[in-house]
Amino acid sequence: MSIPYSYSVKKGSICSGDVSIAGVAREYGTPCYVYSHDSFRSRSRNLVESLNTIRSKEVKVFYSMKANPSPVILNWAREAGLHSEVSSMGELEMALAHGFDPTDIILLGPGKSRALIEAAMTHRILGLVVESPREAKIAAELDNGVTRILVRINVEQGIPGLDESMIGGVEKFGINASELGRTLDDLGTVGKDRLGIHYYLGSQILDHETMLKYHTVLLREIAAYSDMIGTVDCGGGFGVPYSDGDTELDLYGFADGFSKLLLSNGLSDKEVWFETGRYVAADCGIFVTTVMDVKKGANGRTTIITDGGMNDFFRIAFMKSDHPIRLINRLGDDHSNETAICGPLCTPLDNFGTSVGLPAGVEEGDLIGIFKAGAYGLSMSPILFLLHSIPKEIAIKDGRVFPVSKNDLTPFGVYSKILSA
Ligand SMILES: Cc1ncc(COP(=O)(O)O)c(C=O)c1O
Repeated sequence: MSIPYSYSVKKGSICSGDVSIAGVAREYGTPCYVYSHDSFRSRSRNLVESLNTIRSKEVKVFYSMKANPSPVILNWAREAGLHSEVSSMGELEMALAHGFDPTDIILLGPGKSRALIEAAMTHRILGLVVESPREAKIAAELDNGVTRILVRINVEQGIPGLDESMIGGVEKFGINASELGRTLDDLGTVGKDRLGIHYYLGSQILDHETMLKYHTVLLREIAAYSDMIGTVDCGGGFGVPYSDGDTELDLYGFADGFSKLLLSNGLSDKEVWFETGRYVAADCGIFVTTVMDVKKGANGRTTIITDGGMNDFFRIAFMKSDHPIRLINRLGDDHSNETAICGPLCTPLDNFGTSVGLPAGVEEGDLIGIFKAGAYGLSMSPILFLLHSIPKEIAIKDGRVFPVSKNDLTPFGVYSKILSA
């Protein structure tokens, strides 16, 4: 089992630096997310340093807030030199409130309201990605003379076998490449320096050769419009190894191949942007939940019930994803007893796996850790479902442990606030 990046095992306990994650969970209570700054910082550094070897006018890397908009993570992203990619009014407000300069922010995503585009233009953010002729028209009308406008394109061919392919048949995203020329013409008054093209292949790609193969298709489309644009946002899709057989993406191999693609398509003079959430945030987070009950089925199989469920960590149920799961207070024990791990919700969908390898003899009070939970953890979870408690977020930085917010967020608190407004 791969230990998440920058974590280590000390005296049988998973730790960030010298801080034991089981100790943090016992002190602050579960369910909780624990975030390690060491991990976030080293993953960010890896990505930024490798992408900066790309031979182009300039490379910028944007943190995709959708992966984890927790205030502490936004601070860490800013400190790591990442810019900010937002996809809603809420994310735009969070980026501005957490110290990102408007000139560091880009906005993208389908179905933007006129009000959202107007807010982006009023704040004079760095870039706005338009995803349809309608959005392009609004952007041209509201153009502030500062914000770069990028047109997102899509192509016929998707990525076979990639669950989260966002090119190909997925017409929700961007405009068809055949409409690109017309849309860029419509935005002609914006001018080359502020005009650009965006594409996003898909998420969780682990093989750099596969990535390069699809960038080849997209960059070839873009090459024809090179004279009209100054910026290319090439998205991301930088994956992280979740399952045992997964391997780390070769980022330097990617950067080298990508430089060659820019050169062969006459695009080396462009500013190149990338977006990432998962690559920098996934490893930094561990979701911890306590065993509340242990049951033995008629077939002798063990089922455990935990205090956290899919309301707190939806990704496994929703994406059928395969996160490493360990009993973190008995990390060194043999994890080969097939166990069903179920949350407290009144639905059979609420489980973290029906045959997860755990030690034999799991007891009430033991701690389950779900690793690589720093991206698409809390942000993707239906926290109001059944009105259980909302997980705490605890951060570890330079050996210091602190809760992300002063007050616990509770479903009752959320509704009280709405009702009293
Ligand atoms: C356009 C776009 N950019 C960036 C991301 C972030 O992806 P990831 O967290 O896998 O890096 C996504 C995820 O859906 C996306 O749709």
